[in-house]
Amino acid sequence: MSQMLLEATCISHSFDYTLFTDIDFTLEFYESKAIVGRSGSGKSTLLHIFSTFMKPDKGNVRLFGGDLYRLKAYEIEALRRYHVGMIFQFHYLFKGMTAMENIEVASMLSGERIEESFLKKLEIKELLYQRIGDLSGGQQQRVSIARVLSKKPRLIFADEPTGNLDKETAALVMDVLLEYCKTTGAGLLLVTHDEEMAERCAKAYRLENKSLKLL
Ligand SMILES: Nc1ncnc2c1ncn2[C@@H]1O[C@H](COP(=O)(O)OP(=O)(O)OP(=O)(O)O)[C@@H](O)[C@H]1O
Ligand SMILES: [Mg+2]
Repeated sequence: MSQMLLEATCISHSFDYTLFTDIDFTLEFYESKAIVGRSGSGKSTLLHIFSTFMKPDKGNVRLFGGDLYRLKAYEIEALRRYHVGMIFQFHYLFKGMTAMENIEVASMLSGERIEESFLKKLEIKELLYQRIGDLSGGQQQRVSIARVLSKKPRLIFADEPTGNLDKETAALVMDVLLEYCKTTGAGLLLVTHDEEMAERCAKAYRLENKSLKLL
């Protein structure tokens, strides 16, 4: 199998205005990259394109060596279920369920065991039996990260995973994500407006004037 986790070429997309044109991007096993950029520059859109959730106007995306737009629906579903971990900017947790039940759903679907150490490191062990609706935004964010890591993905897309967190907790979340990649060989693509967080990745880019530039 190719060592390349993600290989995107000539990606262009517009909504009301052109967000980006001819973007090339790659991510390998063990690699961490970050994208920063102003609000509205198209960071989340780019992440959705890379992670199977959106088709761009133009360009190609290969995930795990396979052309995304040639895959069958069930193959895309399998990618999402077993291999790709998507931490959404607006985390989608089941509000009526407890934190633990949310994490259990992910582990059941992927057939992976929940790793106690993630829960401990993310400092959510004490709130596992509270309902999601009773947790703060930052606590919910950490539960959603635990849920994604429980699937043991080989590729993690994280959209502002520290957006609701204070500096200290944000640093702790970054520690967990980077350590996960280091120990499992997974790749990480982080989108953030926090340059300090971005600089912790092996490479950081800015999405500006419709293209990506190395920071
Ligand atoms: N599904 C959609 N339909 C129409 N317009 C959209 C859609 N998704 C995003 N947009 C528009 O594309 C632009 C870029 O949005 P995007 O969410 O990618 O920005 P972002 O860089 O992630 O911003 P932020 O830092 O605020 O999260 C915005 O103007 C947004 O309104
Ligand atoms: Mg966004």
